[in-house]
Amino acid sequence: MINLKLELDQLYHFVSKEELNTFDRQIISAYRKIYNKTGAGNDFLGWVDLPSSTSDELLDQISTHAKSLQAKSEVFVVIGIGGSYLGARAVIESLNSYFATKKDTPQILYAGHHISEDYLAELLDYLNDKDYSMAVISKSGTTTEPAIAFRMLRNHIEQKYGVEKARKRIVAITDKSRGALKQLADSEGYTSYVVPDDVGGRYSVLTPVGLLPIAMAGINIHELITGACKMEAMSRAVQKIHGNPIAQYAAARQALYQRGKTNEIMVNYEPKLFYFSEWWKQLYGESEGKDQKGIFPAAVGFTTDLHSMGQYIQDGLRNLFETVISVEKPKHDLRIPQADSDLDQLNYIAGKRLSDVNLMAELGTTLAHVDGGVPNLRIRIPEISEDVLGQLIYFFEMGCALSGYMLEVNPFDQPGVEAYKKNMFALLGKKGFENQTAELQQRLHQKK
Ligand code: PA5
Repeated sequence: MINLKLELDQLYHFVSKEELNTFDRQIISAYRKIYNKTGAGNDFLGWVDLPSSTSDELLDQISTHAKSLQAKSEVFVVIGIGGSYLGARAVIESLNSYFATKKDTPQILYAGHHISEDYLAELLDYLNDKDYSMAVISKSGTTTEPAIAFRMLRNHIEQKYGVEKARKRIVAITDKSRGALKQLADSEGYTSYVVPDDVGGRYSVLTPVGLLPIAMAGINIHELITGACKMEAMSRAVQKIHGNPIAQYAAARQALYQRGKTNEIMVNYEPKLFYFSEWWKQLYGESEGKDQKGIFPAAVGFTTDLHSMGQYIQDGLRNLFETVISVEKPKHDLRIPQADSDLDQLNYIAGKRLSDVNLMAELGTTLAHVDGGVPNLRIRIPEISEDVLGQLIYFFEMGCALSGYMLEVNPFDQPGVEAYKKNMFALLGKKGFENQTAELQQRLHQKK
């Protein structure tokens, strides 16, 4: 049974239940496109039944492999960008301790998700006196950022352990036959996992792309998949608004978009969910933002950002709505102590758990934002666990596909991502891009 709840009470001040139900036809039609594979981008629907079709064998193989790498690693470096790293990081940071790493589990670090020279230099320096291993993840196998990071980390690890031993510390996760990374992995004999052809990067967290790094962090990938299976089953069984929180979420987004609410803010009150929001931002931004359409996905962490973005959300341009992830049960029980002198004036909440205070902050903020004209959707989860994260991942993946089809865009391509790459390649003088180099340089140096 799924135990994630979507609460719409604070939406109904803006969109009535009746109006929401008018989207049922669109939901049914979007579902048909997905399950009958008749919509745009239909060769990228492998994620739809990925949870239920993932074999225990694959999960066991990944877990066993992770254990053998854990035994020789104080640090595990995940090299990838976009969909090739955000899903893993979202799950790892949501579940792991803020400060300590689990016993017998390496620290997980990331590379290849930008081109910062200082970051990579400091990472290489840090790794000098650490035992480490790494995964290089790229579906296309040709993405510049992870390719640069891998070239440098590969040099480092080979110098540290020698080529033969280094080989056993490198895992490649890429396409089954294409791309530079595949060729390199084959010629070097790295252990490799395949990113399925029909699963795009941002939908790939439940493939080895996410599962290997997640297992390396000591997280139970069987339970993650079990949670996703529950949401997959619900989604397939109820392909309409009534009784299906995913369909309700997609319909609510569409109703709000049509009312000019063009920005969705994902809100959390648990800093551990920061990267979950980052994953969600990529999923929705890359899937919906095309043909001059789409809801702009943003994220905040409260109460931190109430002291920075709170003013705008309360009072700025009224093109916003919020989706709050509300966690019912924290892991710990921490209470505010009584003080003899009540100089800080906190005795009125002495004895209360911090989570009670956090909840009142959440409820108070929701009401204030609703009063300020910001519709609120609330996703209530009982706890942050593997099972619940699995449910949430599938919830948002299917919600995104439904939203994309309702918006009449292809939710599975990302043509816009190429524009910056072409310019960067031309400016760097890459073969095949020379024609644009002079023009771009001139534009950069034009004086007004
Ligand atoms: O969702 C996507 O397809 C992209 O965000 C990719 O994940 C990202 O660009 C990285 O691509 P690759 O895995 O090919 O290196």
